[in-house]
Amino acid sequence: MSQHRVSIFDTTLRDGEQSPGCSMNLREKVRMAIKLQDLGVDIIEAGFPIASEGDYAAVRAVAAQCRELKVAALCRTAEQDVARAAEALKDAAHARIHTFCATSDIHLEHKLKKSRSEVIDMTRAAVRQARNYAEDVEFSAEDATRSDIDYLCEVLEAAVDAGASVLNVPDTVGYTTPVEYTHLVEQVRERVVRDRDVIISVHCHNDLGLAVANSLAAIEAGARQVECTINGIGERAGNASLEEIVMALHVRADRLPFATNIKTSELYPTSQLLSSIVGFDVQPNKAIVGRNAFAHEAGIHQDGMLKDRRTYEIMRPEDVGVPRTTLVLGKHSGRHAVQKRCEQLGHELTRQQLDAAYRLMTTLADTQKHITDADLDRIVSDVSGTPRRPAREMAAQEAGYGFGV
Ligand code: KIV
Ligand code: ZN
Repeated sequence: MSQHRVSIFDTTLRDGEQSPGCSMNLREKVRMAIKLQDLGVDIIEAGFPIASEGDYAAVRAVAAQCRELKVAALCRTAEQDVARAAEALKDAAHARIHTFCATSDIHLEHKLKKSRSEVIDMTRAAVRQARNYAEDVEFSAEDATRSDIDYLCEVLEAAVDAGASVLNVPDTVGYTTPVEYTHLVEQVRERVVRDRDVIISVHCHNDLGLAVANSLAAIEAGARQVECTINGIGERAGNASLEEIVMALHVRADRLPFATNIKTSELYPTSQLLSSIVGFDVQPNKAIVGRNAFAHEAGIHQDGMLKDRRTYEIMRPEDVGVPRTTLVLGKHSGRHAVQKRCEQLGHELTRQQLDAAYRLMTTLADTQKHITDADLDRIVSDVSGTPRRPAREMAAQEAGYGFGV
């Protein structure tokens, strides 16, 4: 099946950084940008230059360091904003000016206090101004998913006429659903893009936990750029998670025939770098990069995994750069996993000894969350009479709270 190419627009350093607790200094932003370049993203949105001196400097520094991809700077549809974004990008190898204006009545009335025709004029003027500085101009209709569709199409038409080549229809408040978003993208494609060389971009927030599902629906409907962040960081409940979108396209290429430029084995290292920079981990059950994404505790699952990993894993940990699958010994584990770990630790148990060790392990597991190698060693020593191994040796052997297969 032939594959369409989808561009990955990473906004970890802009929308991601806007979320509470995620601010990064210049050195951290550059470090992250270099990692994103190695990961293979197509565009890095490096900041919002008018917002602060720090953002301006970060866009300049990222543009100086990342020469193999596009660097985008965000600006409102105001003259000074556009000029500041252009100045920040002036030394970029490949620059994109990304200008945005809200199009929903609720934003026009209560936030911008502008009429619909004023917003159309502002859009036209900002895109024209941006085109004086850069070939590549993206226009975003903020709160597109709560906008009147006829008016949204009028604003987007004005942006294309003024020279925008990328049209973004963000789900700014994470409100849409996959079917509704599909319809929106199809309308924009049919009514605005038509046969012109204009890319539809999507940008989804996760307030209802639908950001990735909505992004995938939009790609199927014709979007060819997707805006997302590492670990899904971003305003409120976050942005669509880059690693989830990429792996959904990768694992389900049979249903979603869309290619990206991402080196999937760099996903986990990139996620880890971001966590270390912002100072907090993703939740353990986070898809793709969470601590439990490749961990198994239930006995039936562990038994299946030890026979053939495909029984309970739809991708290999190494495909996303996770070092290995882990089997966690706990109260749900079975004999097979206990036997395997005992063997790995160098204990050969008879059938009766294994049964006894298994019973002791499940009793202990009722009182504590995980069974460590030191616990197992003590149990084995009790049932087989072999001496315990030195604590230092056990500590050196123990890897996290599980063991690898
Ligand atoms: O969520 C949003 O609408 C945005 C725009 C600035 C693209 O972040
Ligand atoms: Zn956003």
